[in-house]
Formats: sequence, C-alpha cells, structure tokens
Amino acid sequence: TKTDSRVLRAELLSFDADPGDGDSPAPGSVVHYPDGGLWIENGRIRAIDDYANLADDLPAGIEVIDHRGKLITPGFIDSHVHYVQLEIMASYGRQLLDWLNDYTFPEEMKFANREHANALSEVFLDEMLRVGTTTAQVFCSSHPVSVDAFFAASQRRGLCMLAGKVLMDRHAPEGLTDDVLGGIRDTERLIGDWHGKGRLGYSLTPRFAPTSTRAQLDATGAILRTDPSLWLQTHLAENTGELDWVSELFPGSRDYLEVYEQSGLVGPRSTFAHGIHLDQQMRGRLAERGANLAFCPSSNLFLGSGLFDRLAASEAGLNVTYASDVGGGTDLSGLATLKAAYQVGQLRGQPLTAWQGFYGLTLGNARALSLSERIGRLAPGMDADFVVLDPTATPLLARRCARSQTLGETLFALMMLGDDRTVAETWAAGRCQHRRDG
Ligand code: GUN
Ligand code: ZN
Repeated sequence: TKTDSRVLRAELLSFDADPGDGDSPAPGSVVHYPDGGLWIENGRIRAIDDYANLADDLPAGIEVIDHRGKLITPGFIDSHVHYVQLEIMASYGRQLLDWLNDYTFPEEMKFANREHANALSEVFLDEMLRVGTTTAQVFCSSHPVSVDAFFAASQRRGLCMLAGKVLMDRHAPEGLTDDVLGGIRDTERLIGDWHGKGRLGYSLTPRFAPTSTRAQLDATGAILRTDPSLWLQTHLAENTGELDWVSELFPGSRDYLEVYEQSGLVGPRSTFAHGIHLDQQMRGRLAERGANLAFCPSSNLFLGSGLFDRLAASEAGLNVTYASDVGGGTDLSGLATLKAAYQVGQLRGQPLTAWQGFYGLTLGNARALSLSERIGRLAPGMDADFVVLDPTATPLLARRCARSQTLGETLFALMMLGDDRTVAETWAAGRCQHRRDG
C-alpha cells in the first residue's frame, strides 16, 4: 500500500492538559515548538518534534512544507452549531422565542428539500474549513434528509462530525414537527446508516424541552440507554422567557434541568447549549453526570440571552465547551467565539486567558465531547486535523504580533484580532482542505 507522507515545518502549539486560569499556563500543559516539525502519514500524525531533531529521522525525498513564520494548532472544534441556520445569521431585533418563530422555523422548513440540504451542507462545510474548524456537533433540521445530506457531505471530505435530526413534536409549525414514533423511527434509521461510519457520530437531538412532549423526551432517553456510544445535544436555560415557559409546561419538574434528568438525558456524552440561568446546585448535578455546557458567547450577546458564568461552572467541576451556535451566533470562527467569550468574561469580571481559550477550542472541547482519543492534540497517532495560522495575515495583525514579547501575547492578539484571514490553511484527515489564497 502506498504511504502518503509529508512534513510541515512551523511553530507548533498543542495542549496536553488544561492550562488553568492563571496568566501562565499550568506546568506541563503546553506543548510548544518554536521551530517544529509535524510529520503526517496516511491521515494521522506520525511524529512531532523540534524540526532539527525530526530532520534526522526523515526518509530521503520526503516533502517538507515550509510554514516558518506561521503557527500550527490542532483544528478548532465547535461544540454546538446549527448548519440549517447559516442563512439566517444576522436577523434583526428578536430574543430567543420570537427569533425561533419569526426567522428560524420558517428557514428550517426549507430542509425538507434534498437539493437545498445538499447545497447548504457543502456551503456550511466550506465556511467551517475557511475558519479553521475541523469538527463540530451539529443540529440539522427535523427532516431526516437534512441529516443524510450533512453526513454524506462530511464523509466525502473525511471530516470528524457529530450531528443529529431535531426531535420536535409540538410548539412548532406543521412541516417541522414529528411525532414520538416517527421521530424515533427516523432517528434509529439514521443511527444505523451513519453512527460510527468513518469519522461520523450520531448525536440525539431533542431541540429543547418546550418543543418535545414528555413522551418524546422519554423515548429519546430510552435510545440513549440502549447505546451509550451515542451523543446527545439540546438547549438548556438560555433565556428567561424560555425558563417561564418550561416551568408552565412541566409543572412536575422542580427546575429546567430536572425535565431532562427525569427522561434520562443527562450523561457524559450530553451537551447542553447555553446554561446561562442555572444555580450552583444545577451545575453540580450536571457535573456529577459528566455532562458539558456549550458556552455560545456571540449568540448570547446577539440574542440578548445573558452573560454565561464560566467560573461558576468550573467551580462546580462542570466541563465548559466553546461554540458558535450559528445562526444565533454571529460568527462561525472559533477565534471570534473566543473574542466574544473574553468580552462576556470582562462583563463578569472573569476575563478569559488566551491559554484557556485555545485549550478550550482544541483539547478542552475534544475531551468534553469524548473525542480526545482521536482529535484535539498534535501528538503521534492522532488524526491529522490542524490549522495553519498566519500572525501576519493583515498589516494590523502583523504590527501587533511583531510587538508581542511572548507566545501568550501573540495568542491573545490572534483571538482578539483574528478572523478567516488569519487561517492560512486548514488540514483535515491529513489533507489540505482549505487554503486562504487558493
Ligand atoms: N433553543 C431552541 N432552539 C434553539 C435554536 O435553534 N437556537 C438557540 N440559540 N436556542 C434554541
Ligand atoms: Zn443552538
């Protein structure tokens, strides 16, 4: 069999552990080679080292791509995003419940159409790769064809993606709602066709408590119990109007989280988007089960949902992941997500360090999503998903980065000033799948 092998020479950054919230990263957490070599072979990382050390081991004639002056990190991971909402980004003037009714639901209706779903899947993946995101946990629409389209497009590119069909059996327009049995039947068919195929995984996707009956939530929990290799994604405590509605709809639950607990939806592979309006006791219950909250700062600011309390979550031992939540979010870029997270943190007196931010986008998200065996680090044996960042992408960024005294400062400048121009290349499954200039 033919081996496909090459080396990238660049500054390399990866994490082996959580750097903590200090100004300096915790000892042993950062892997950094100012002049490094990343040797990739057949879709995996074969070796990583100082370039000078690696050069001794390289076979004669191997291709070496010279990216000196650029910084390679693991590919970014987006723990919560709706591909079907790409085209309603930047829809004016509503908070969550009106935004869903006025913009989101009408848009998602379009994904009953196979051609539309195919086309938007390709557009969405192009945009993700343009901003350096190589893995995401994705909401499709309630139409199975929207999931087939997304998984097929991801598989053609060899991407590691989690996704699922929205389950929603009430409080949405006809044409978007399913029913308990139909929703389960479609979900089981999709799991059979896609879960564990190549780099794809299925995430059970009840939209949120208000749009599912108790029977639908229970049926979803039953599937999760029979196959603990499945993921689950939903929304939790994003908006105060939503909270009031949930307490009316589920009078038998003490709080919003208990609605999900009672149906068995809270586990180590469960991601709850937002979790802004929680108390410490609820955070503790989520932590106990190993679940994670997806912090979606640009969405929380855009929809006026509130300021996520990141430190309260971490004090409770609760995993926090970083997410764009497009179309509520205003930017697909992981760098833009970190910038918004920093801004939310400032308003809460808990500014996000660049160390914590870049760890979060890479190994932190990978761990919380149970994907860290394969992605999230630059290390031998890991899948070759990474991003080549250009600190001189724009004249302004070049000026700012030229003044940086430390790697931490450069990372912070990238997270505040970076965007799609900062992403010179995105590699996934060992192949360059996006190049800024070409
Ligand atoms: N809650 C229920 N559905 C949605 C959605 O599509 N986006 C966001 N941000 N919150 C939700
Ligand atoms: Zn969402």
